[in-house]
Amino acid sequence: MTSSAGPWSALSRNNTQGAANGREIVARDPQRQAAFYRRLCNWEIERELMSVDYVHGYSAKESSRLTDQATTLTELLHAGTRYPPASRVLEAGCGVGAQTVILAGNSPRAAFTSIDISGESLAEAGRQAQQAGVANVTFARADIFDLPFVSAYFDHIFVCFVLEHLRNPAGALKALMRVLKPGGSITVVEGDHGSAYFHPDSDYARRAIECLINLQQQGGGDPLIGRRLYPLLGQAGCRDVRVSPRMVYADGSRPALADGFTRKTFTAMVEGVGEQAAGQGMMDEASWAAGIKDLYRAADEDGTFCYTFFKAVGLR
Ligand SMILES: C[S@@+](CC[C@H](N)C(=O)[O-])C[C@H]1O[C@@H](n2cnc3c(N)ncnc32)[C@H](O)[C@@H]1O
Repeated sequence: MTSSAGPWSALSRNNTQGAANGREIVARDPQRQAAFYRRLCNWEIERELMSVDYVHGYSAKESSRLTDQATTLTELLHAGTRYPPASRVLEAGCGVGAQTVILAGNSPRAAFTSIDISGESLAEAGRQAQQAGVANVTFARADIFDLPFVSAYFDHIFVCFVLEHLRNPAGALKALMRVLKPGGSITVVEGDHGSAYFHPDSDYARRAIECLINLQQQGGGDPLIGRRLYPLLGQAGCRDVRVSPRMVYADGSRPALADGFTRKTFTAMVEGVGEQAAGQGMMDEASWAAGIKDLYRAADEDGTFCYTFFKAVGLR
């Protein structure tokens, strides 16, 4: 267990004293809560943050895509994830808070610490949390590979759509395991872009998806990581690992899913790397446009789209 300084290691304690005091106040006052989040988001942890080539970038469009994704997939991804009152949960790589508001809303009496390497995303996450009236989250800028927390502090850890972007996902899991209590759980949710298939089939669309896969691999990430979660968690020292594949299937009878997932999540994600793909001459302009058009086509009334996420839970 920890000292009265809370989860923060001695190294970063000076940065967090105010936050610990503030936390008691902000829970009661929404305006001060907003100011508190802003302050937290502006923290500069006094060390160099590891740089990553994040293929999707940090644009407003990408923020809105992440929010659409989280909202559309709420039931599919969050079913089975509820944390007991008073438990301490670390959300690693919270981004713009799209999962945070769902997680914290589903377990309103658990205490969440949501971290990200991007101060800009954290600022947006703070706004999202405030808008959703979520008061059980503390945001902080931190690097998963250099966590500013004492060992064995958290009861649970949640990581969603982060490992696929890291050069060393196994190292990230090891770093996270350090701050997890013995007996605590780690939940990891990832996609696998190799699991996408659709009707009508299209060579152009498959090539466009392949561009996204190649670009992410070039950046050091693994867009096919879903299928690898079981061995990765095992290698990081997790026991009792269970992986549940969670398939999204959208057709004309599920127009909201076709819109929220096929169009606004998956196709928007592929479309987002268009410039990079063109810049590398991976596809000519006309073929790329045809690929994107065909992906949107799969969201039409007579189109279908299938994709599988993987949710793994292991214990320390
Ligand atoms: C695809 S976003 C996912 C965000 C959120 N979990 C969600 O599902 O909407 C990946 C996030 O991981 C963050 N990230 C990448 N590397 C990181 C690191 N080393 N430490 C902390 N966060 C990191 C990125 O800044 C980005 O916000």
